[in-house]
Amino acid sequence: DWTTGNVIEEQVEAIRELVGDKRAICGLSGGVDSAVAAALVQKAIGSQLTCVYVDHGLMRKGETEQVEKDFVAATGVQLKVVDAEQRFLDALKGVSDPEEKRKIIGREFIRVFEQAQAEIIADEGPAVEFLVQGTLYPDVVESGGGTGTANIKSHHNVGGLPEDLEFKLIEPLRKLFKDEVRMVGQELGLPEEIVQRQPFPGPGLGIRIVGEVTKERLDLLREADAIAREELTAAGLDRDIWQCPVVLLADVRSVGVQGDGRTYGHPIVLRPVSSEDAMTADWSRLPYDVLARISTRITNEVRDVNRVVLDVTSKPPGTIEWE
Ligand code: XMP
Repeated sequence: DWTTGNVIEEQVEAIRELVGDKRAICGLSGGVDSAVAAALVQKAIGSQLTCVYVDHGLMRKGETEQVEKDFVAATGVQLKVVDAEQRFLDALKGVSDPEEKRKIIGREFIRVFEQAQAEIIADEGPAVEFLVQGTLYPDVVESGGGTGTANIKSHHNVGGLPEDLEFKLIEPLRKLFKDEVRMVGQELGLPEEIVQRQPFPGPGLGIRIVGEVTKERLDLLREADAIAREELTAAGLDRDIWQCPVVLLADVRSVGVQGDGRTYGHPIVLRPVSSEDAMTADWSRLPYDVLARISTRITNEVRDVNRVVLDVTSKPPGTIEWE
C-alpha cells in the first residue's frame, strides 16, 4: 500500500545502506523538490549530509530566510550558505538579452556551487561520494524519452550540475509525482511555505526584469511581487492558480499622475496563469477586486512604479515567463 509513511521508511533504509559511513551533499534551491529530497536524506544519515544554498540575490522577498531559518529549524540539516549576490550582479551588468542572462546565471551558479562543494570535500571527515538530487518521476520519463518536449528556452535548474561530475547520485523522489512529493514533505514536517510553493524559475527574478538586472530594480520587483503574493494568499487563491510571475518592464516608462505631480515610471506586469503541467497555460480570470487591490497597493507602495498591467495571453503563444 502506498502511504507517505511507507515511502519515507523505505527510502530512509535504502539511503542508509547505500551511503554507509560516507558523506553526501545536496544543493537547495528553495523549491519543493530539493527541500524534500534533502529532508529525506537528512532523516536517513543526519550530519553525514551537508546542504549548499547559493544565494544569487535573485530570490523573492523572504525566500532565502525560509531556507536559512525555517528549513534548517524543521530538519536540523547542516547548511552552508554562500552569499553570491554581488558576484551575480557583476556578471549580469549591462546584459539585457534573456538567453544571455540565463547562460550567465547558470554558469555562475555552477561555479559557486563547485567552490562550496570543494570546501566541503576539503573539510575533515569521510569521503564525499554522493550527490542528492530532487529528480521526480516526470523528469525521469522526460529525460529518457528522447526528443520528448521541445525546450524553447534553455532551462536551468538550480542544483543542476555539469556532466563530468564523479558523484554517485541519490534521487529519493524518482518514483514520485509532485503532489506525492508535497505529501512526503508535509509528513517530514517541512514548513507549509516550502511544501506548497508554486513553481519558480531557477534564474529567479533575473528573468522577470525586462532589461538590465540591477540591485535597485531587483528591490523594486521584490516589493511588487511580495504585494501580489500577499494579496493572492489573502484572497485564498493560491491553490487556484499555477503561478503568477510579476514582471518589471525596466526599459519602458509611461506617464502617470501621482500626488500632485506628473510621474514617469515603470509598469509592472501581472501574469497569473492556470495550468496542469506548464507546457500549456491559460491566463487566470482573477476577481477584479483582487486585481484592484494589488494594483492600488503596488502603485502606492512601490517607488518608481506608476502602472500595473494584466497579461491576458495564453501559452501558446506566450510563454509563462516573459524571458
Ligand atoms: P515558460 O516560461 O517556458 O515556463 O512557459 C514554464 C515553466 O517553467 C518555469 N521556468 C523555469 N524553471 N528554470 C526552472 O527551473 C528555468 O530556467 C525556467 N524557466 C522557466 C516557469 O516558471 C514555468 O513554471
